[in-house]
Amino acid sequence: MISRRRFGTFLRAGALAFAGSLSFAHAAAADTIKLGIVGPFSGPFALQGKNFQAGVEAWLTQNGKSVGGHEIEIVYRDLPTANPQQARALAQELIVKDKVQYLGGVYFTPDAMAITPLLKQGNVPLVIFNAATSAIMTSSPLVVRTSFTTAQTTTPLGKAAADRGITKFVSAVTDYGPGVDAEGAFKKAVEAAGGQVVETIRMPLNTTEFSPIMQRIRDAGAQGVFAFLPSGPPTLGFVKAFSDTGLKPAGVKLFATGDLTQESDLPALGEAAAGMITGFHYAISHDSEVNRAFVAAGEKAIGGPGQLTFPAVGAYDGMYVIAKMIAATGGKQDAEKAVEAVKGLAWESPRGPVKIDPETRHITQTIYLREVAKDAKGNWINKEIQSFPGQKDPGLAK
Ligand code: PHB
Repeated sequence: MISRRRFGTFLRAGALAFAGSLSFAHAAAADTIKLGIVGPFSGPFALQGKNFQAGVEAWLTQNGKSVGGHEIEIVYRDLPTANPQQARALAQELIVKDKVQYLGGVYFTPDAMAITPLLKQGNVPLVIFNAATSAIMTSSPLVVRTSFTTAQTTTPLGKAAADRGITKFVSAVTDYGPGVDAEGAFKKAVEAAGGQVVETIRMPLNTTEFSPIMQRIRDAGAQGVFAFLPSGPPTLGFVKAFSDTGLKPAGVKLFATGDLTQESDLPALGEAAAGMITGFHYAISHDSEVNRAFVAAGEKAIGGPGQLTFPAVGAYDGMYVIAKMIAATGGKQDAEKAVEAVKGLAWESPRGPVKIDPETRHITQTIYLREVAKDAKGNWINKEIQSFPGQKDPGLAK
């Protein structure tokens, strides 16, 4: 008697032999691979989502729309702001209804945290293009990240800030994952270099009025301020207020993650941001061939100069990783194999040399110390002044 299991094997073998005998059927069987990208494509953070799309399109323009004969089809889903419930529903729909093999994007940490519990059952890897809290990586083995963490960008910055002879700092961060991580990393780095954080301020995510915060900073008698807010309208408001309320004119020095000086905001900030020191993984002005080609393709995709900013490079490198995953799995849906294939992957990104850390699946990269300054043509840029190569995420250090 033939067992049910062996009978199944027999049927599959028969079907394979049949498919093999029809050579034209093989080409037709090259599957379209669907990639679902979640990001803020409308609302106050729409430019950040537009940058995801520009990064994706820049990559597709340079590398073509198919990998190993499998065409990549992108399905964009709009998630205007941090909304874990909606994030979960969108991801669920992409996995179950749209049958995506890969998920990418995700601007805000709470959204990433809401999506990761779905990955295992859905057999879908998630490549994060932005969300920057360290702990996201430990919430699922099927997450890979091509952006940065705030602990990663802040650690070299804290040391550099203290090395400038400032000893008394106030920290002001948005009160959620990436802000809490940034505050902790800054405090640790400053204290290790002999400085002090005398007050830690945490601002609600929806804060739009920053003058009370500036008053607290003034009252604390800080010589230096460290700040993190999610890039977009909040960062523009904070940097403007720091200048308008008189802290910058009084000589208080503002240190921040590069989220606060994204290039698209620099013309509007102008002198208000001049001289600001930031720590970050990417500047549009980064001097390399790979970056110049990326910026040209990215600006074309986004519709002109002045709008391209850091989420585009996270998306561009995310596409590189997803293409490697598709190649390694031959287009078959196998999330574990796909993630395994990119552990240790190293390449030259527009930001510089990068590698997917095989242990944490987060990107190892150079963190740059930058200063807001004018270039030779008189345009405001994040001028790279110091490099800290090979930075892993200190927030994930064992
Ligand atoms: C995040 O929510 O993780 C986040 C959002 C915007 C940033 C950085 C981090 O600029």
